[in-house]
Amino acid sequence: MGKVIAVANQKGGVGKTTTAINLAASLAANELRILLIDLDPQGNATTGLGVDKLGREQSIYDALISDVSLESLAQRTPCEGLILIPSDRNLVAANLELVDAPDRESRLRQKIASIHGSYDYILIDCPPALDLLTLNALVAADAILIPIQCEFFALEGISQLLDTIARVRDSFSHDLPILGVLLTMYDDRTNLTRQVADDLRDFFQKQVFETVIPRSIRLAEAPSHGLPILLYDPRSKAAEAYIRLAKEFLTRERVLLKPQTLSTNNV
Ligand SMILES: Nc1ncnc2c1ncn2[C@@H]1O[C@H](COP(=O)(O)OP(=O)(O)OP(=O)(O)O)[C@@H](O)[C@H]1O
Ligand SMILES: [Mg+2]
Repeated sequence: MGKVIAVANQKGGVGKTTTAINLAASLAANELRILLIDLDPQGNATTGLGVDKLGREQSIYDALISDVSLESLAQRTPCEGLILIPSDRNLVAANLELVDAPDRESRLRQKIASIHGSYDYILIDCPPALDLLTLNALVAADAILIPIQCEFFALEGISQLLDTIARVRDSFSHDLPILGVLLTMYDDRTNLTRQVADDLRDFFQKQVFETVIPRSIRLAEAPSHGLPILLYDPRSKAAEAYIRLAKEFLTRERVLLKPQTLSTNNV
């Protein structure tokens, strides 16, 4: 059964999509079967993997609001072993269209149930909001990965995110551990980055991944070529960082998501 990981932080521009694409690609390079679900109406994970949003007839929106299956939406990507479920702008409307549905928060979970067996990991790229889409991702997820940008207001809004996670745990009797907090856009030449990183490690303790993602122009360029960094510039520091992250992810995931230890690692 594939494990489902939501990449979430309602703060915008912290590196969720960059992490979802590049972690997914690095896991796929380990010969794992990976599905990336683009759950953000902006569709950045879709374009970032070279899949055309405009030419598409159906997207994750259709799966959420109708009986379209996820498998029928699956798109190949430039990475062997990495399959994408694309997003498009219609997804904005899903928040409103689902609001009166009794199962509005568990639609994605239901859809994923039928494809679990086909993948080792299913990553969900969340939008920058604590909306119904992000709730669907959290309800569907076995664990959450939180990217945080190393900047002055890094912890702003984190308590709301933690409250939402707690609410999902309560309402859905769901463990939903934090698999890890990832420091992104890390620039160790600046005191500010080091100070913020120290604060985040104080706050989240061992939940922070040892791997940090450096600030990298190559990483910012890669999506405009529709490629993950591993294919765009495999020798770059950023590519190395995401390969290290994939290793750390696999080690952690195997410990944290073992059934007998599930409930002992929550925040
Ligand atoms: N490590 C990095 N170094 C340099 N630029 C980065 C890095 N990570 C992300 N970026 C750039 O910062 C911007 C925001 O990153 P990204 O889209 O991954 O964030 P996000 O959290 O998904 O944003 P949103 O909340 O809008 O979905 C993008 O232009 C991306 O290319
Ligand atoms: Mg994004």
